[in-house]
Amino acid sequence: MTQSKRQLHLGLFLFSTGYHPAGWRLPEAVADGAFDPKFLHRVAQRLEQAKFDFFFLGDALATSADMQHTFPSQMVRLEPFTMIANIAAVTEKIGLIVTANTTYSEPYTVARQTASLDYLSGGRLAWNVVTGMDVRAAQNYSREKHWDNSRRYDYADEFVKIVQELWDSWEDDAFVRDKESGTFVDGSKVHRIDHVGDHFSVTGPLNVARPPQGQIPLLNAGTSERSRDLGAKLSSAVFTGQILIDLAEEFYNEVKSKAEQYGRKRDEVFILPGLVPLVGRTSEEARAKYRELNGLLVTNYDLAPLSARIGIDLSSYPLDGPLPDLSLSSLPGNEARGFVELARRAEGRENITVRELFHYFAATSRGHLLIVGDPEQIADQMEEWFVREAADGFNICPPYMPGGLDLFLDLVVPVLQRRGLFRTEYEADTFRGHFGLSRPESRYARKATLQGAGE
Ligand SMILES: Cc1cc2nc3c(=O)[nH]c(=O)nc-3n(C[C@H](O)[C@H](O)[C@H](O)COP(=O)(O)O)c2cc1C
Repeated sequence: MTQSKRQLHLGLFLFSTGYHPAGWRLPEAVADGAFDPKFLHRVAQRLEQAKFDFFFLGDALATSADMQHTFPSQMVRLEPFTMIANIAAVTEKIGLIVTANTTYSEPYTVARQTASLDYLSGGRLAWNVVTGMDVRAAQNYSREKHWDNSRRYDYADEFVKIVQELWDSWEDDAFVRDKESGTFVDGSKVHRIDHVGDHFSVTGPLNVARPPQGQIPLLNAGTSERSRDLGAKLSSAVFTGQILIDLAEEFYNEVKSKAEQYGRKRDEVFILPGLVPLVGRTSEEARAKYRELNGLLVTNYDLAPLSARIGIDLSSYPLDGPLPDLSLSSLPGNEARGFVELARRAEGRENITVRELFHYFAATSRGHLLIVGDPEQIADQMEEWFVREAADGFNICPPYMPGGLDLFLDLVVPVLQRRGLFRTEYEADTFRGHFGLSRPESRYARKATLQGAGE
């Protein structure tokens, strides 16, 4: 670790039409940005000017037109490896995160693609390891059904191990390139991995040299025990959806403690919850935008999912009437109360209606914290989460694009910088560098050194 002072890490989680399902309907929003390279370049370059740590592309392997009113950004989008190759060419410093699904790919393929992108980006790549949350993917990949959690994570564990071995299969100094003698490589520094396991047999070596970062950092997100375990064991950063600071603190501590059990240091794994900042120059302006967005939702106000979210059956409550007594909630602890409190804060009033609670739910249904406020108020909440060790930084999800991002970069980032919470200049130009992570030696070089020392 090289970083002295703990500072926030900030990245963009790209929702090209905005995180809010109706974000694209605002008059000023760009509705077709997902397929416009100029729009995507502008976003990435603006992030880089603001010294963001990373630009993150999620991915899924199935879609349908009925996602248009709930997940328009995820319904159709560019394939992440192709897109990141293009973004890498128009940026120089910012980290780039691709998502690759282990359930529907092959380790040799992913090792090649990621190593290649690490070269094309000059060492700025990280890999978001997912096992797939859309069961419909199975139908697009000639499978009878989407595997259950334990089978997917068994497969992922073996998959990732192979990819990491393949990245090491060429030692850093394997290339001699001696024109005099005609020796291009030193064959003793090129290794087969000879993997034979439960799911894969892969001989290697990889046909791409060791990537610039040596080992490309891994990230993951997940709720199940297995995915938390993967994160604690292998990930440099863990994405998460957390809306209540107390639960976020618990999650933070749990992943870091688990990482220690795996022999890692607590500060080798960064916890990055999603954050949807609805920024205005004043809190009134922010709230007006929040209401404008909610007024554009296309919805039949189906209250069943919201009822489950707060543990109270809302079917007999009028939409424009008051909320029920929250002590009726069947959920443990303060879950319902905490969620309702956030909706109240977003509206700026105590006495919100069922409709207004529904709006907050619809605006945050993917599980990330939405906060409405002026730049200082947004910065205050980020600082609180950071200081209380509920977060090491945030995966920023602007509610609409590009204006929602621009306001965050122009108004909130300078506040964070003034408070010494965020960098004003890049100190590195690789993904590892931005997070203060050192470059690991190849396992084969290490082995040779140990053998040389007679161990
Ligand atoms: C911030 C964040 C980003 C995610 N991005 C993706 C993604 O791009 N593709 C995907 O298939 N799943 C994605 N997921 C889902 C997780 O990988 C995971 O599958 C899900 O949270 C269910 O947890 P489990 O895998 O532990 O069952 C994301 C989750 C979070 C919190």
